[in-house]
Amino acid sequence: MPLVERMRPFTSTIFAEMSALALRTGAINLGQGFPDTDGPLSLLADAAAAITGGINQYPPGPGIRALRTAVAEHQRRFHGIEVHPDAVLVTSGATEAIAAAVIALCEPGDEVVLFEPYYDSYAATVAMAGAIRRTVALRPPAFGFDPAKLSAAFSDRTRVVLVNTPHNPTGAVFTREQLHLIGSLAIQHDAVVVSDEVYEHMIFDGVRHIPMATLPGMAERTLTISSAGKTFSVTGWKIGWVHGPAELVAAVRAVKQFLTYVSGAPFQPAVASALGLPDSFYTGLAESLQRKRDLLADGLCAAGFTVFPPAGTYFVVTDVAPLGFDDAMRFCLRLPELVGVAAVPVSVFCDDAGLGATLVRFAFCKRDEVLVEAVSRLAGLRAVAS
Ligand SMILES: Cc1ncc(COP(=O)(O)O)c(C=O)c1O
Repeated sequence: MPLVERMRPFTSTIFAEMSALALRTGAINLGQGFPDTDGPLSLLADAAAAITGGINQYPPGPGIRALRTAVAEHQRRFHGIEVHPDAVLVTSGATEAIAAAVIALCEPGDEVVLFEPYYDSYAATVAMAGAIRRTVALRPPAFGFDPAKLSAAFSDRTRVVLVNTPHNPTGAVFTREQLHLIGSLAIQHDAVVVSDEVYEHMIFDGVRHIPMATLPGMAERTLTISSAGKTFSVTGWKIGWVHGPAELVAAVRAVKQFLTYVSGAPFQPAVASALGLPDSFYTGLAESLQRKRDLLADGLCAAGFTVFPPAGTYFVVTDVAPLGFDDAMRFCLRLPELVGVAAVPVSVFCDDAGLGATLVRFAFCKRDEVLVEAVSRLAGLRAVAS
């Protein structure tokens, strides 16, 4: 096989497999996390106008000034973080920002601390950098971590801590105490925190998102990452950004410029305007998703799953053990044929296979009628699964 050894574990993604299965069986696809409606009309119109208006060539390397300024204003408005537009770098989605950060900061053999289950690009990215991952488990029902295990995951080789809050796939939102502990260990080991906050606006029940950079002493060592794909339901546009201390952002830019150089010229001004949408847009997004969460979570409960209601994101994790299944992967491979719904096993986001053995993730960023239909199909699961 020509592929280098360190990338061999990453040849296929569960999403492609499950999406193909969903298509073949006509199942409702609650596996992959993309919305089935478009973002705000003004955003779409602005992008269309930019294309016909001739904004189609390479934008400036760090991103257009209007977008970097809008990100800085957004950070001040929602989180009280003061960011200079020059300290913002526009990337090809959050995925590129994460990859460029890890590649920029880690020598081969350096260590990256991350929490599992993790967003699937993290492990591949650490492997690309030739770095080593040290994972810390987030366990149900609350998906918190054991402070002693976190502390033990750090060493004198730790260069980066990858944090994701609100967290995919568990829906956990890290508390101030948890962030404080992570931050203290990062300071103690002189590590950089790469904080993936793409679900910052998808948060429920009055819970608050706390950006890592707002903790005392952390702005100096944190790269904060977010993305228009999630906030504005345009996952295919791949407009993300990262900000942080000048030296760290310069390091990320050095790598980013040779990964993609730039991307999304006509999308950048559109996203810049959308970031200034009124509060009602942002609260409306969270309220609508909270309703969808309740719709799906209640349906899953009624269908016999153990449900761990998420405080954020648009995913809900369930346990299929009460339905008589002991292997989430096998369950997910059968679910489309059993009832016509597709989901993904949490084990694919874990190094420790035991951690997600019976856990299954469903996405609820779908139209209400799709969720209602999915719930009605799932209601028949117990009858056909036995
Ligand atoms: C935690 C997390 N980070 C990053 C991304 C990717 O963001 P983007 O599409 O902007 O690259 C996702 C997408 O699912 C995600 O769940």
